Amino acid sequence: MNEVSRKCVGIIFGGQSNEHAISIESARSIFAALNSEINNKKFSTKVFYINKKGKWFDSRKSLAILKNSINCLDFDENSPFENIKILDEIDCNDIDIWFPILHGSNGEDGSIQGLLKLTQKPFVGSGVLGSALGMDKIAMKLIFSHLKIPQVNFFIIKEKNFDDLIVICDQIVKKLNFPLFIKPANSGSSIGISKVMNQSDILEALQKAWSIDHRIIVEEGLEVRELEVGIVGKRNLIASEVGEVNYTSDWYDYDSKYKTNNKITIPANISTQLKEMIQKLSIKSCKALDIKIFARVDFFLEKGTNNIYLNEINTIPGFTSNSMFPLLWKSSGLEIDELVAKIVEYSL
Ligand SMILES: Nc1ncnc2c1ncn2[C@@H]1O[C@H](COP(=O)(O)OP(=O)(O)O)[C@@H](O)[C@H]1O
Ligand SMILES: [Mg+2]
Repeated sequence: MNEVSRKCVGIIFGGQSNEHAISIESARSIFAALNSEINNKKFSTKVFYINKKGKWFDSRKSLAILKNSINCLDFDENSPFENIKILDEIDCNDIDIWFPILHGSNGEDGSIQGLLKLTQKPFVGSGVLGSALGMDKIAMKLIFSHLKIPQVNFFIIKEKNFDDLIVICDQIVKKLNFPLFIKPANSGSSIGISKVMNQSDILEALQKAWSIDHRIIVEEGLEVRELEVGIVGKRNLIASEVGEVNYTSDWYDYDSKYKTNNKITIPANISTQLKEMIQKLSIKSCKALDIKIFARVDFFLEKGTNNIYLNEINTIPGFTSNSMFPLLWKSSGLEIDELVAKIVEYSL
């Protein structure tokens, strides 16, 4: 392939999200994968950094941040507020396809997907609808209930309503057994989530979740193993091997996600029947939400009963070389550079 037919991929990373740091790591591994010997013949890359305040940087400065030769913190907390000129420094004509590798709010919830759609260039991953539905735990659960996809029992709080707090607490304990997991509907990396063991701790957990989102989901907590599966495809979705994440903490909270070395087991030690059921459910649930190109679908396997429950779908899963998503595909026969090329090609 000559220079003209190489497709220029615009990798967008960082972002106004509490998962900013992990996005930088994911972008580094995608950048490396697109610049592998095989992919280099098919793709060129430009990178664009968005700092935590939402300011976009040109590709030269962004590359320096990606390559660690400029500390991205120099552009963050200490810089005064500036008028945000989105896409101002970016020549969209250079780009054939965008690759937003932004986790969490603004990156995974349909916001950046809407903006990229307006540039009239294709982008990698789910569109506005699939991204928004995949991010919002309330919308997702309501659709899954309709389709009878198995989920833990839950209670929805749609408004920040401090007047009715006593009533809300009563309703929660009438409907659900302890322990509870109280979660902001839109977050990620376990941020804003509390495990609550008794009624007197509900209020504090609600306040914590409300500090992130006005929509809250309360779930019945189960004793679980955590199984994850990767999805790729456009119209025909295919599922990877199933993996298991093992951690030593009580639940998979922020610190255990990022501050410890968790053990990932691929393939998970489960029966073939269970594996096939998980793969089938993951495809069904992605189709239900219009999630495509790539995603990671997370399940709970209840200890004792072996019941399976769908927990959530991540439309832009962690993509570092140690992340579950690329490891699941590696175990299913796709190296990370083949995987990245495939999902870019599906999206062109
Ligand atoms: N209903 C539940 N029962 C048992 N553990 C749960 C439940 N809900 C959440 N957890 C624990 O909290 C973690 C984070 O919850 P999750 O809904 O996946 O949030 P996030 O979107 O931030 O990853 C899960 O991986 C699991 O360890
Ligand atoms: Mg999760």
